[in-house]
Amino acid sequence: MVNLKQAFLNWMHGIKSPLADAEKILTSPDGTLSVKVSLRQGHISYSVMKGEATILRDSKLGLKLKNFRELGDHLAAVRITEKSVAETWETVWGEEHFIVNAYNELALYLTEITRDKHLFTVRFRVFNDGFAFRYELPPQPAFSRVEIEDELTEFNVDLNSDSWSIPAYQPDRYEYNYEKKPVYELEKSVHTPLTIGLKNRYYISIHEAALYNYGEMTLKLDEWKTLKSDITPLSDGIKARVELPFSTPWRMVMIAGSPIGLTKNHIMLNLNDPPTEDFSWVKPLKFLGIWWAMFVGEWTWAPGPRHGASTQHAIEYIDACRRLGLTGLLMEGWNGGWEGDWLQNGKTTDFTLAQPDCDLPGIARYARATGVELIGHHETVGFVDNYESQLENSYKYYSDLGIHYIKPGYAGSMMVIQGKREFHHSQLGVLHYQKALELAAKYHICLDVHEPIKGTGIERTFPNLLTREGARGQEYEGGALSPSHATILPFTRLLSGPMDYTPGIFDIKNDVKRLSSTLARQLAYYVTIPSGMQMAADRPRFYEEVNPGAYKFIHDVPVNWEHSVPIMGAIGEYYVVARQERGGHDWFVGGVTNENAHKVRVPLNYLEKDATYTAEIYRDHETAHFRDNPLAISIETTQVTNQNFIDIWMAPGGGFAISLHKNEQV
Ligand code: NOJ
Ligand code: CA
Repeated sequence: MVNLKQAFLNWMHGIKSPLADAEKILTSPDGTLSVKVSLRQGHISYSVMKGEATILRDSKLGLKLKNFRELGDHLAAVRITEKSVAETWETVWGEEHFIVNAYNELALYLTEITRDKHLFTVRFRVFNDGFAFRYELPPQPAFSRVEIEDELTEFNVDLNSDSWSIPAYQPDRYEYNYEKKPVYELEKSVHTPLTIGLKNRYYISIHEAALYNYGEMTLKLDEWKTLKSDITPLSDGIKARVELPFSTPWRMVMIAGSPIGLTKNHIMLNLNDPPTEDFSWVKPLKFLGIWWAMFVGEWTWAPGPRHGASTQHAIEYIDACRRLGLTGLLMEGWNGGWEGDWLQNGKTTDFTLAQPDCDLPGIARYARATGVELIGHHETVGFVDNYESQLENSYKYYSDLGIHYIKPGYAGSMMVIQGKREFHHSQLGVLHYQKALELAAKYHICLDVHEPIKGTGIERTFPNLLTREGARGQEYEGGALSPSHATILPFTRLLSGPMDYTPGIFDIKNDVKRLSSTLARQLAYYVTIPSGMQMAADRPRFYEEVNPGAYKFIHDVPVNWEHSVPIMGAIGEYYVVARQERGGHDWFVGGVTNENAHKVRVPLNYLEKDATYTAEIYRDHETAHFRDNPLAISIETTQVTNQNFIDIWMAPGGGFAISLHKNEQV
């Protein structure tokens, strides 16, 4: 329980006469990045420099509370504090085993010099590779809850810079193709991470960390042509209703000298809190799914003669998991109450009722005996009211059956919450996703959320959030995905955390969902698109019968990493990354290109010195092309050391994967 009076007295501690004007420069631990925070004539703002280069010009800060004047234009500083932190922490799973968290912090304790006398704190953190700040409303005598009408945060960036974005407030949520355009064209709101290439050659990505109990921050130009926060509203226009004390999510900007530099950034995770309970029960995994067969029309989600989620299919797929070395099976379309049409009937879905041909307890028993984890599925279609009324029961049902993984889905253009239509990324949407995540943790269940709220690093605090969708994934193949998409994701969406892209489709030339990809590229995704739950999305016969040689890579590749080494990339053109297996000695490299062929020389200097490795190289055959020859793959084995390079040619729409198994020393 927060002792509000004590918290208020702490906030007021040491107050002397307020400072009307103040200016403070906060630098990064390595001294190269500086944030200047200014309080002038009652207004608070900040600007950012990297050495001599301008990152952001003077940018306004503030909040607008309902029924009050702007909290940001009649301020005085009552106290300014500074501190430094340098620590290394261990992740439960992810792209890095250990992460360095080093920053300098400045907090300005502010009061209004008007009748309202609101108190608030702006806290800045400056890292070597970015900075962040947030607003904090401490307990205060005058009021205990507020309605936030607007957030006035500016990111005053050079308008001529290039940017890569997806539009906000759209029916398909985050599932859009990225558009490259100058910042001066961002007149409509876009989601973050918003990646921007400045004219001075620095690359930045504006995002937020630790999004709880607040509308998501989108960005757009205001009427003065300044890039400004646009917090997703509730259906009545209010951005958030909160009780004090309250802190907004962190507004953060990652900064690097190149696009590939952005992909090494960890400030989002650093800005989230460590877990408060033991999550050692969380286990990342690779899984098959009763899923793609529905997309290509072999089976159906709906009950009927070709129903996918039948007991018989589940048993067959569990046996296939065992043979293929996969530890999970997703089963979609097992439950009832929606009579075959999710979108129409989602409000009556029953999350504990199985279809007659699906003996869920029997399947769960068989899975357990076989050593395979069953992954439950909840398609809510955004009917949150219906889902929440069954949430605890349905999680308990799975937990009683020994099911420790769920893929919840929120297809549907809006959510229905408290009887109103709300955006998925509104405060009420955020609260729902959080409620589900915390309840899942209580039942030791891991989540793979589809149609989620975007990632803001909360998987540091709740590591049972193993992955999410939140971007256009492979379900959009069959016309709506171009090869460049996967070369943009690492520099945009993937900066916000793991993604379930549903990789591993080997049946590329099928008539319904023809892929814009070569076969080798499908393997690359397991390294280029990290995910705590990684799907082998095709039907098992394509792995076992059609291409067992290529499947070996999916079998071998881990889902949990010791260390990641981004190697090279250009946004929308190509991307190459190497990762080391967590707790192991083997390395895995993946690369993807856009619709153009691309040659790369892959360095191996991250391998252990004086060791030799067996390299298995899965690459596009010289005749491969995503349009007319996607299946042409060359698989070869060679011996390498950290002195070698591997030269690779990626076909148009192609890619490659390499596994580097350390040889036993003799
Ligand atoms: C949307 C999800 O993204 C997809 O993976 C799923 O199959 C459908 N919803 C149906 O649940
Ligand atoms: Ca989706």
